[in-house]
Amino acid sequence: IHQNDEKHASNQNHENTNSHLFTASFTNNPYPVYEKLRKDEPVFKVMFPHGEFGWIISRYEDAVQVLKDSRFSKDMVKRYGADRQSIFSSTMLFSDPPDHRRLRGLVQKAFTPQLVAGMRSHIQDIASDLLDNLPSQETMNLIDDYAFPLPIIVISEILGVPLEDRDKFRMWSNTFIEASTMKNTVLLQQHVQEFTEYLTAWFAKVRKDPGQDLISQLVIAEESGDQLSEKELLGVVSLLIIAGHETTVNLIGNGILALLEHPEQRDLLIKRPELIHQAIEEMLRYNGPVEFSTSRWASEDIEFRGQHIAKGDLVIVALDSANRDEEQFKDPDVFDITREKSSHLAFGKGIHLCLGAPLARLEGEIAVSTLLHRFPNMRLQADVDTLEWRPGMVVRGVKEIPVQLI
Ligand code: HEM
Repeated sequence: IHQNDEKHASNQNHENTNSHLFTASFTNNPYPVYEKLRKDEPVFKVMFPHGEFGWIISRYEDAVQVLKDSRFSKDMVKRYGADRQSIFSSTMLFSDPPDHRRLRGLVQKAFTPQLVAGMRSHIQDIASDLLDNLPSQETMNLIDDYAFPLPIIVISEILGVPLEDRDKFRMWSNTFIEASTMKNTVLLQQHVQEFTEYLTAWFAKVRKDPGQDLISQLVIAEESGDQLSEKELLGVVSLLIIAGHETTVNLIGNGILALLEHPEQRDLLIKRPELIHQAIEEMLRYNGPVEFSTSRWASEDIEFRGQHIAKGDLVIVALDSANRDEEQFKDPDVFDITREKSSHLAFGKGIHLCLGAPLARLEGEIAVSTLLHRFPNMRLQADVDTLEWRPGMVVRGVKEIPVQLI
């Protein structure tokens, strides 16, 4: 009887944790739930809101292991079949070797640290221009006025897509990212169709008159035979547009927010600007932009930390939880820009390690330094508890951050 009682209590505990996972309060602050997961059930069997079972990996060491283990596949077409394909199905993010190697290889050269470093002064100009042209020099909405446009301008230039269309890209990419919380699937489908038509028309234009940009290079690769199919071309460009829209904006947003919430850290960074590299790494660790978009599935039955993960089960690595693991980081809930060598997992690990990491880091450094230099006294214009975090489980970021600049 005693054993049954214990089992019952642990089942209740489990269900209790599950019910806390997909709530508004979890979206606002997932860290208490993550702490409980790491402590009680580090390999947690979860019921997702869409009714599917899966596993959440919350400890750092386990996260690294799963991210590096090829038995956890990313190929979602293999898992769900061709009828559940999305625009991203034929991309490096959702493929295994050898396709992964070929698809990543085609764009990797455009994002090497050396090449990205060459963009420093141009990105600096973009950041300065944005601040020069703010609607007001007294207040701003950090997201709309600064954190969002900066990475978009940069990725649009790399790809060669027209900047005038950036509102459309924002609308489409918001839809894709928040898709899991959307009840209106008609709107989702409509946006997928519009986005696909837009890009297809753009590729046709580029084919006639290719330039130096990345899309031109990819279109040429597609035309020259078996390197890239048309579907893969659409996939990789969509992936880069979405990645360029939804991630770095939150590095800048979450990062500045952390500085505003910890004025002593802001003052330290103003006094010692050379700490910017460490500060960016700490921002990525403390409130990383990517949350549950690290899905994989077990391609065979796997015994993992005493749990039986059955073939076909979905597995999610909670990067933001791993980055607060007390076994890995001393005082993990403390935001400390002098933290030595962070080894956080905000960019993932293994073969799918973020391709855009050098670019995101550089954009983050320039955005934060330039803003602090220009407006050293800026402060939050709202109570931090009233800020609204974006719904959906894919990215972690705030919708709007009103700041007083002077
Ligand atoms: C992959 C995070 C910015 C392009 C990833 C992954 C993470 C990540 C965690 C791995 C997902 C997994 O293993 O399942 C971030 C963060 C960013 C950022 C935190 C900003 C701070 C960017 C940017 C670009 C980009 C700016 C493009 C310009 C990609 C691509 C992949 C990827 C193409 C797929 C790599 C592969 O599957 O081999 N990113 N990302 N990311 N990221 Fe980023």
